[in-house]
Amino acid sequence: MPFQERFNQIVKKTKPVSPLRMWINTLVFSVITFVLGSLYLFVRRGDFDLYIANKAFAFVSIILIGLSFALSGLCYFWDFVDTKIIYRKVLGLVGFYYSVIHIFVSLFLLPNKFPLPSWVLGHIPTMIFATLGLIIFIVMAVVSNDDVMHELGSKRWRQTLRVGYLAYIFVMIHFGLLKYNSWIAWSNSGKFDLPPLSLIEIIFAGIVVILRIILEIAIRRRRAARQAEAAEVQPEPQTQVQTDTETPPQE
Ligand code: HEM
Repeated sequence: MPFQERFNQIVKKTKPVSPLRMWINTLVFSVITFVLGSLYLFVRRGDFDLYIANKAFAFVSIILIGLSFALSGLCYFWDFVDTKIIYRKVLGLVGFYYSVIHIFVSLFLLPNKFPLPSWVLGHIPTMIFATLGLIIFIVMAVVSNDDVMHELGSKRWRQTLRVGYLAYIFVMIHFGLLKYNSWIAWSNSGKFDLPPLSLIEIIFAGIVVILRIILEIAIRRRRAARQAEAAEVQPEPQTQVQTDTETPPQE
């Protein structure tokens, strides 16, 4: 079944929920995610302050934006989260707002940890990927507005949103470059410590991207199969025309 058809079917299944209710539910979900991330960090590090809360903000952002992307694939292949498909946009937007908090805290509220401009200058590649990701997310947040969507047309709009995956990958590179050493240190430590939260984040984000690739392959295969079927049905009238021309008209 084509993706759009399956999507319309799923949306019909979901009970109508007011936009306000969706925002409240998503905000509550984001707070629960923040608390869980913070608890994990507290257990792992034995401490909690703004520096650690900032990691939890980044965690919520990666999880919510990832879930917003993953819902398409999850609903296409399985039906256990079908009723949640309507949350894609709000999840993405709330995740984006958390990333803005994370950026603000990193740049302006933790000068002892990340002094400006030396910290940024010392981390140019990771900052380039972070900035590119941020710019794409800003465009997506603007485009997700209903008026802009109508102006772009639904196909163009969906294509623009797909660029979001690129932003997600840029962000993976952003924190992958920053955190890679801590992953190696943890794996070489030989202790039974909890893994860094950023390692869990990169695995989660990797699964989101892989799910999208599998979804794309499935959609293309089905499209190709449908086109092949249509092509098999098509030749009939052509054969008819040929036979007509070859057969001399009956008198
Ligand atoms: C210009 C924009 C950005 C800046 C200046 C920035 C800054 C930082 C800094 C300083 C860290 C290291 C934190 C630490 O070691 O405790 C970090 C890590 C991280 N950032 Fe960003 N960031 C930016 C954009 C983003 C965006 C857009 C996202 C998500 C959508 C994001 C997600 C993350 C994640 C998941 C981590 C790993 C946190 C951890 O240690 O567990 N960042 N970022």
